[in-house]
Amino acid sequence: MTSPKMVASGKFTNFNKNTVYVIPVTKKSDKLVLGATPIETSALTTLDLSSVGVSVELEQLVRLPAPNGATYALVGVGQKDLSVHDLRNLGAAVARKLSSFKDIVIGLPTKDAADTTAIFEGAALGTYAHNAYKGLTKGTEIKLQTVTVITSHKPSAAALNQINVLAEGVNLTRDLVNMPGRDLYPESLAKAVQSAAKGSGVTVQIWAEDRLAKEGLGGILGVGQGSSRGPRLVKLEYKPKVGKKHLALVGKGITFDTGGLSLKPSISMLGMNFDMTGAASVAAATIAIAKLQLPIRVTAWLCIAENMPSSTAQRPNDVIKARNGMTIEVLNTDAEGRLVLADGLSLASEAKPDYIVDVATLTGAVQIALGNRHAGLMGDQEAVDIVRDAAEEVGELVWQLPLATDLRSLIESDIADIANVKMGNTAGGTIIGGLFLNEFVGNRAKGETDNIKWAHLDIAATAHNAGSAYGVVPKGATGSHVRTLVAIAKRIG
Ligand code: BES
Ligand code: ZN
Ligand code: ZN
Repeated sequence: MTSPKMVASGKFTNFNKNTVYVIPVTKKSDKLVLGATPIETSALTTLDLSSVGVSVELEQLVRLPAPNGATYALVGVGQKDLSVHDLRNLGAAVARKLSSFKDIVIGLPTKDAADTTAIFEGAALGTYAHNAYKGLTKGTEIKLQTVTVITSHKPSAAALNQINVLAEGVNLTRDLVNMPGRDLYPESLAKAVQSAAKGSGVTVQIWAEDRLAKEGLGGILGVGQGSSRGPRLVKLEYKPKVGKKHLALVGKGITFDTGGLSLKPSISMLGMNFDMTGAASVAAATIAIAKLQLPIRVTAWLCIAENMPSSTAQRPNDVIKARNGMTIEVLNTDAEGRLVLADGLSLASEAKPDYIVDVATLTGAVQIALGNRHAGLMGDQEAVDIVRDAAEEVGELVWQLPLATDLRSLIESDIADIANVKMGNTAGGTIIGGLFLNEFVGNRAKGETDNIKWAHLDIAATAHNAGSAYGVVPKGATGSHVRTLVAIAKRIG
C-alpha cells in the first residue's frame, strides 16, 4: 500500500469537483463556529452548525455540499491549541474517513512546518486497510491519491521522505501481523522480511534448524519443536560508515501461539497470529532506519517459531538450555515468548551493543495492568528513559513498570537454573516476564555487571486493536511502536 501523494500548497484558489475540503470546527463562548481556515467558507456562513450534527470533538466529521460539486468536511478540532500529536491524529482520521475521495484538501491551522508534517504523517498512517482476505465481499476501498494542505509552512523534502519511509515500515508490520497463521509461518515470515529488506542496505541472515542447533539456541528450538513448520532465527544488520553507537533489537516472532501442550482455551487462542508483532516491528524499524541512513549501527534478532501441541512438542517439566548456557525448566509451554527471547537476548549481548531493546507480545497481564493503549516498559533506567522520550516524541504510549527484583525468587527452579513461570501465580505477570528476560542480558545470570543498557517493551495489548479505528491506529494490527524504535535510533545515534 503506497501513501497518498502529499502536497503543501501556499493558497486556496477554487473548488474542484469531487474534491473534499476539510474545515475546522471549534467553539466560541459555547457556540459552534468554524475555526480559522485558508479555504473559502462563505457558503457556510448562514448555516446553523449544530443543526447539521457538527461537533467540536476531535476527529468528529460531517460532510456538506460545497460549491462546484465539491464537498466540505467539517471536522472537530476541540477548543485548545492543537499539538503535533493532535494534528497527526486529525490527519489520520480525516484521511481514513474521506478515503473514498481521490483528493483531500486540508485547511487546518498550521503554525510551522512540524504541524504540516504531522498532518501528512497522520494521513499516510491513517490510510491503511486490510483487504487481502476479502473474497466476494469488498473491503474498504481506498481511492485517496493526493492530500493537499493549504499552508505557508512547507515540510522539507527530507521530512516528506521520512513520512513515506515510516509509513512503509508501519504498514509492512501491519500487513505481516494481519496475516493468518496458515499463510505466515516461520519460514515465510523470514522470507518476507528478507524481501522487504532488499535494496535498503540491511543484510539478512536466516538460520534454519540445523544452524539453530549448532548455535545452541535451545529456547527457539524447544518452542518450535512441536510444529511441522520449523523455527528460524533472522539476523538483520545495518552498518553505516558513520556512527559509533550500536543498538541491538530483539523481537518475539511466534507466528501462532496455541500455548503448546499447555494449550490455550479457544477464546484466548483467537488473535494469536499477532504473536509475531515484536519480530515484524523490529524488522520494519531496522529497514526504516537503514532507508533513512541514520548514523547508528543496528543489529536485529528475530526469534521465530510456531508454538504448537503435538507428539514432538516440548512438555511441561522439560529442561532446555538457552544460548547463554542457562538451563530453563519449562513449567508452562504457553510462556514461550521468554524462551525464544532468552536466545535472542543472549545472542544480541555477545556483540556488546550499547543498547538492547526487545519488543514482544509477552503477557496477557499487561492488558490487565495498563489497558490497550500503553505498552509496558521495563529495564535499565537509562534505556527506559530513552524509550520513553522517543515514544513521547512520536505520540505512542508507554508506561514503565518496576523490575521488582524481590519477585525473582518466584521463578527459581528446583532442578534447573530458572523456571519460565510460577505456576498458579497471576500477580505481577508482566514484571515477572521482564525479570526473566533480564537474566539473558549480558552476563547478568552470572551476577556480573555489563555496560549494556537494556529495555523491554511488552506490546501484548497494543499490537492489536479489536475496537474501531482511532487516530493513526486502524482496526486489527496497529503497527504501534515501530516509529518509537526509529526515534530511539535517532536519539542514540
Ligand atoms: N502470546 C501470549 C501473550 C498474549 C496474551 C499476547 C494475550 C496477546 C494477548 C504469551 O505467550 C502467553 O501466553 N503468556 C502467558 C504467560 C503466562 C503463562 C505466564 C499469559 O499471558 O497468560
Ligand atoms: Zn504463549
Ligand atoms: Zn506468545
